[in-house]
Amino acid sequence: MYTAIILAAGKGARTTLSVNKTNLLLDHKPLYKHSVDVFKSAGVNVVLVINKDDEEFIKKWSNNTLYTYGGETRTDSVNEGLKLVKSKYVFIHDAARPFINKKMIEDIKELLNKYDAVLTCKNVVNTIYDKELNVIDRNTLLEAETPQAFSTEKIKKAYEEKGVKNYTDDISVFKDYFNDEIGLYFHDYNNIKITTKKDVEKYLMPNYKIGHSFDIHQTDKNRKLILGGVEIKSDFGLLGYSDADVVLHVVAESIYGALGIGDLGTHFPDTDNKYKDLNSQKLVIFALEKLKEKGYVLENMDITVFLEKPKLSMYINKIRKNIAELLNVNESNINVKSSTYEKLDAIGSGKAIAAEAVCLIKRSN
Ligand code: CTP
Ligand code: MG
Repeated sequence: MYTAIILAAGKGARTTLSVNKTNLLLDHKPLYKHSVDVFKSAGVNVVLVINKDDEEFIKKWSNNTLYTYGGETRTDSVNEGLKLVKSKYVFIHDAARPFINKKMIEDIKELLNKYDAVLTCKNVVNTIYDKELNVIDRNTLLEAETPQAFSTEKIKKAYEEKGVKNYTDDISVFKDYFNDEIGLYFHDYNNIKITTKKDVEKYLMPNYKIGHSFDIHQTDKNRKLILGGVEIKSDFGLLGYSDADVVLHVVAESIYGALGIGDLGTHFPDTDNKYKDLNSQKLVIFALEKLKEKGYVLENMDITVFLEKPKLSMYINKIRKNIAELLNVNESNINVKSSTYEKLDAIGSGKAIAAEAVCLIKRSN
């Protein structure tokens, strides 16, 4: 009795990403599939409208879902979807609104008993101006959302007659042909349409991610010992292409890990001359830039240094403070501890110093 046309044939141009936004993963599932699954769970048949280019991806995730190719505009895509609908009623829904739920669908079904067209909508809460800066009385306005639902026979007729123009929703096509009263479905759910890059960052990226790094350097009598950006009194230092600050290496690299952007070598290859004797603070500054670019902040970091000597206890606070300053967080979010290797292995015999860091990053919007 019910079919849902789920529109996923756009380009998602406003996200400025190179992929169609409806294929992006939300909670480990493509955006479009959230709507498919909700409609199916409410006993509604689904016709998915897709881009030809996305076909392999869609088949992988939804091989038992009926689909067809969309067109150049949303209106063209609806036209294509409607060709496959045979049920009495049809829902038309943007796959870019993944947060719909079963209750909304059941409520709209109820309204279809009374109306041949139903608009999901919200009252406008902001003050709205036109571009000449006249205030428009918001009580006269409604914000349209999807799903919108119809008598199939009528919406097919309206699209047949009017669907050559370009519309941004389906109620407007219906209204251009029929004078029927439209059922209004108000709700309090978050039914946002993922449209911009900001929306993608806010709704699709995980709230928290963890990162980890381990690094080890050989000791060397001819070098200074720098740990966490602090010079340590010692009769040896660490060998390495950069300044060999093993602590700052794991600080930076654990953040790269949390962001999923590879390791130190990816960004600062030791085959590149310009990184010789590099001050490792630069690796941390780069990590901070990447955090910001990807929309995250550091929540906390726990660092362990493994060395037999020298004793680090009198430097720990200084290292901690230095790392907190570099990372632009409160000291309470950074923990630094040291441990010996009980005289075992390369570290225990003083041939190497190692460090390990674990961090948690949090979405910043
Ligand atoms: N849509 C479609 N076919 C089109 C254009 C849009 O099926 N030719 C779908 C989109 O996939 C989306 C919904 O219509 O689920 C709402 O459109 P919109 O948010 O504008 O998505 P896009 O057109 O993909 O995005 P943009 O306008 O930024 O390119
Ligand atoms: Mg569009």
